[in-house]
Amino acid sequence: MMQPTAKPYLLAHITDLHIKAGGKLSYRRVDTADALRQCIDALHALPQRPDIAVVTGDLVDFGTEEEYRFLRAMLDSLLIPVRLMPGNHDSREALRRVFPDHRYLFEAGDGEAPIHYRIDAGPLTLIAFDCTVPRQSGGRVDPDALPWLEAALAAAADRPTLLMLHHPPFHTGIGHMDEQGLENAALLEAVVRRHPQVERVLCGHLHRHIVRRFGGTIAMTAPGPAHQVALDLDPRAASRFRMEPPGYLLHWWHPEHGLVTHAAAIGEHGPAYPFFDAQGKLID
Ligand SMILES: [Fe+2]
Repeated sequence: MMQPTAKPYLLAHITDLHIKAGGKLSYRRVDTADALRQCIDALHALPQRPDIAVVTGDLVDFGTEEEYRFLRAMLDSLLIPVRLMPGNHDSREALRRVFPDHRYLFEAGDGEAPIHYRIDAGPLTLIAFDCTVPRQSGGRVDPDALPWLEAALAAAADRPTLLMLHHPPFHTGIGHMDEQGLENAALLEAVVRRHPQVERVLCGHLHRHIVRRFGGTIAMTAPGPAHQVALDLDPRAASRFRMEPPGYLLHWWHPEHGLVTHAAAIGEHGPAYPFFDAQGKLID
């Protein structure tokens, strides 16, 4: 039975914002600022306001301080507390400089040091494990960082935990993205397998929703709020993106039903229509 004080908890997982400064388009085509604005509108329009939002990297496009200042101004309009982590397009140093009040960013160091952190979010524990390599597209699990992760997981042994990293720890079949995948994923998998409270491994990088089992749990990437990496499972697929419907993931934690993940769309899709008429009959 559900405890009388226990209630659902809602976490919005957004990723790969690729914000540029001053209205500049990404790849001369994508208005990522407008995409983030629409994403924020979609979150605010939900019938249930998420308790927290996380962004799993590629916050900005070229890692400049100007881009982070632009992002910061945009996030000021978000009515949900947000937690950030870097992706391969980010600069840890510039991110920390523009978000000094986000103290969790400094848990594992300052400047260019990796941005690992563990925070409690309602009934959940969020662990960000920074596997980015400065000035490199691919990610790497640093064996020297694993004791930190092991300790962070051990400290949250009795709490449902979401492990966040930018690069998914599995091959997706999209060849050009797998070439810039995650090195040493097997080392990470062995650690995750020892901690069954890990409900999800949440990732970005792919700009589309992909799911795979990993270390006894479920790993997934979230869709992007702007452009999506083209769905082409040829190992020699060209590196391309498409303006497919944008989205994000909404993770609903319920004390009785566990963690349930919904893929949510961004954009104008009209009102919610009834299935049944006023007499309770299915509309024919
Ligand atoms: Fe990205």
